[in-house]
Amino acid sequence: MPVRDVLRMGDARLLRHAEPVKAFGQPELFDLLRDMRDTMQALDGVGLAAPQIGVNLRVVIFSVESNPRYPDAESVPETVLINPLLTPLSDAQEEGWEGCLSIPGMRGLVPRYTHLRYQGYDEFGALIDRTVSGFHARVVQHECDHLDGILYPLRVKDMRNFGFNSELFPDNTQQEA
Ligand code: NI
Repeated sequence: MPVRDVLRMGDARLLRHAEPVKAFGQPELFDLLRDMRDTMQALDGVGLAAPQIGVNLRVVIFSVESNPRYPDAESVPETVLINPLLTPLSDAQEEGWEGCLSIPGMRGLVPRYTHLRYQGYDEFGALIDRTVSGFHARVVQHECDHLDGILYPLRVKDMRNFGFNSELFPDNTQQEA
């Protein structure tokens, strides 16, 4: 159950546009997902995108559990989302704090669409089509940004709202994605 190294900001591989998956239900895809799960769990992450472990494919995983900072957020079982398409359902955005396993120890305040439809496939090629909001929508947008080479600090509007987690939130530990 290999835990893979997570690339960190500054590594040019995080800036690439990832390629679509063409073959579903294949051992190579299952192996990739196993490594992504193991890595995400080992680092206690909320989500992980394949480019973060150096695999340039449009594959993300995430798992949304109850979070005291988002008391209204529903919990979501672990989701595999491949070749995703995101469609905001309104222009409404909200700001929220994010962290990233590729930028360990840091947090930033990031605007994201509040209401979102996402579509894509699981590892067997079955269609996924969900309409979500709030923290769930935020996590999906964060992960899918990785597929287009976008790290969350690029979306922080006011860089005064970017800093070390230990200074910003001395009393709690927030998860990273
Ligand atoms: Ni991230």
